Amino acid sequence: MNSVISLTDIRRVFSMGDQQFEALKGISFDVAAGEFVAIMGASGSGKSTCMNILGCLDLPTSGCYLLDGLDAGGMTANQLADIRNKKLGFVFQGFNLLARTPAIENVELPLVYAGFHAKERRVKALSAMEQVGLSGKENNHPSQLSGGQQQRVAIARALVNNPAVILADEPTGNLDSSTSEEIMGLFTALNRQGITIIMVTHEHDVAAYAGRQITFKDGKIISDTKLAQSVDGGEPMS
Ligand SMILES: Nc1ncnc2c1ncn2[C@@H]1O[C@H](COP(=O)(O)OP(=O)(O)O)[C@@H](O)[C@H]1O
Ligand SMILES: [Mg+2]
Repeated sequence: MNSVISLTDIRRVFSMGDQQFEALKGISFDVAAGEFVAIMGASGSGKSTCMNILGCLDLPTSGCYLLDGLDAGGMTANQLADIRNKKLGFVFQGFNLLARTPAIENVELPLVYAGFHAKERRVKALSAMEQVGLSGKENNHPSQLSGGQQQRVAIARALVNNPAVILADEPTGNLDSSTSEEIMGLFTALNRQGITIIMVTHEHDVAAYAGRQITFKDGKIISDTKLAQSVDGGEPMS
């Protein structure tokens, strides 16, 4: 199996004064290229702490994290920023777009950090906007777009650098249920094109779009289940 993500016995201890809190208590799982994984669990169970580690925004207190075969544990802050930019795309609950910046420039941002020239950036960003169904909205500012459209811009931004994995933390948390379905339909379509997705949600109907559900409780994994069928009419596997 070709694992893009491999976590082995990940622990994360937060220290606050003389208090210590173990938010992750030995998490292990692998994600193969092309999987769509939902991470579930109650509030406080460690989902975001795990996502921050997967996103190279935080390092585990102990344990091993391999991203596309590279050991995040041994990296400097600069190397982590570099791998983050090259290998990962991020989608957040609150969209996290630059408000005073046209949609297309929001999408181009990861390419600025990656050192692409303006012309190349525009070509790639236009293609990503098309992939998420936003052709024609390139010059709109986020405030001139609906919540669902803003999340599509954020997904285009996550895609534009052709990452190994897209990490989405509660991507439908700020959206109504019909817009959530639309966004999950988009994630499903992208996954079918081969994009690996890891998504946190606490909603079962949202998680049902993923082919695999990993459930956290009190900093541990209590279940890891592959589903035979997706909700949007995918054929059952025999
Ligand atoms: N920076 C931090 N400092 C101290 N405690 C933290 C920190 N981040 C998270 N925690 C604690 O770790 C636990 C897991 O948090 P989190 O990963 O955000 O949970 P979830 O995303 O599942 O709601 C919670 O009890 C939270 O209070
Ligand atoms: Mg969280």
